[in-house]
Amino acid sequence: MSVKETVLRLLEAKKGDMVSGQWLAEESGASRTAVWKAIHSLIEEGYPIDSSPNKGYRLSPSSDFLSADGIHSNCARLPRGSIFVYKELDSTNNVGKQLIAEKREMPFLVVSESQTCGRGRMGRSFFSPSGSGIYMTLALQPELDVSRSVLMTTAASVAVCRGIRDVLGLECSIKWVNDIYLNGKKVCGILTEGITNFETGQVDALVIGIGINYRMPEGRFPDDLQEIAGTLLKEDSPSGVLPVRNQLLGSITDHLISLIDDLDSRDFMKEYRQRSLVIGKDIRFIDGTQRGGRSQEGTVVDIDDNGGLIIRTRTGEQLTLNSGEITIRTICPL
Ligand code: BTN
Repeated sequence: MSVKETVLRLLEAKKGDMVSGQWLAEESGASRTAVWKAIHSLIEEGYPIDSSPNKGYRLSPSSDFLSADGIHSNCARLPRGSIFVYKELDSTNNVGKQLIAEKREMPFLVVSESQTCGRGRMGRSFFSPSGSGIYMTLALQPELDVSRSVLMTTAASVAVCRGIRDVLGLECSIKWVNDIYLNGKKVCGILTEGITNFETGQVDALVIGIGINYRMPEGRFPDDLQEIAGTLLKEDSPSGVLPVRNQLLGSITDHLISLIDDLDSRDFMKEYRQRSLVIGKDIRFIDGTQRGGRSQEGTVVDIDDNGGLIIRTRTGEQLTLNSGEITIRTICPL
C-alpha cells in the first residue's frame, strides 16, 4: 500500500478528528515529508481534508468520498482486500469480468466514482456522472444453472431495497424485473451478467452491476432521462448532508450476499411481490427469449417463485415471462 493510501486509510478511520502529522508518520511508517506530500496530493485530487498549523489534519466529517475502508467498515460479508474502488472506469461490470479472467478470488466488489461507458439492460447506456451516484459490481461464483439466474437478479432488487431502507429509511418499489423506483421515478437499475460454461450449462461466475442515482447530478439528468429518473436524496438536501454512500454500498453488499447464500429458500420472493409495482397492472411487454419479438399487451397476474412474470394476454392466454422488457401503462407516484 502506498503512503497516500495508508494516510487516507488513517484519516478515514479518524474521520472528523484532527490528527497530527507526527502521528500519521508514526502509524504509516513514513517520514513527515512523505506524509505532507501524500496529504497535498490527496487535497489536489479533491479529498476534503482540513489542515491547521498546530493541530494537524482531518478528513471533513461531511466527506462523502468512496473508499474501500469506508465500505469495509459497513460490510461484514466481504473479506479484507476484496473491495476495489476507482475514480473512473469504463464500466464496473467490464472490470469485474476482467478481474475474473485474471483469476481474482471471488466474491469481490468493484466500485467507481464515475463510469465513461456505463451499460444498462438491452444494450442501453447508463448515465454515470461523478459525485452523485453509486456504481458497483459484485462478482461471485454461485452454484447455479443458467435457467435460475433470473432469481439472482430478483434477489439483487430486494437487497438494494433493504440497503436503502436500512441506511436512509426509504421504502422503494420494484418494477419487474429489476428497476428500483421511489416516488414514481427510477432511482436504480441492475445489470446481471453471467459467465457460462456451455459444456456443463452452469454459470461459472456472475457479475451483478448496480447503478444508483444517489443525489441530483450537478448538471442534472440529460433531457431523455428527466421524466424517468429520480434520486434517493431530495433535491433540496443541503450538499454534503448524509455522507452515507459507503454505508449504502456496505449494506447492499451484505444483504445481497446473504440473500444469495440462501437463494433456494426463496424467502425474499414474498418481499419482492410486496414491493412490486406491476402486479395487477396492464402492461406492454416484449418476450426476451424471442429475437425481434413483437410488443404484446396483457395484465400481470402474479410473479412466480422463480421470479417469472405471470401474464394474462388480451386473448385470455396465460404465459410466464422469464426475461424481457415491460412498460406499465401508467406508473402512479406512491
Ligand atoms: C438498467 O437500468 O438498464 C441497468 C443499469 C445497470 C447499471 C450498473 S452501474 C454499475 C454496473 N456497471 C455497468 O456498466 N452497468 C451496471
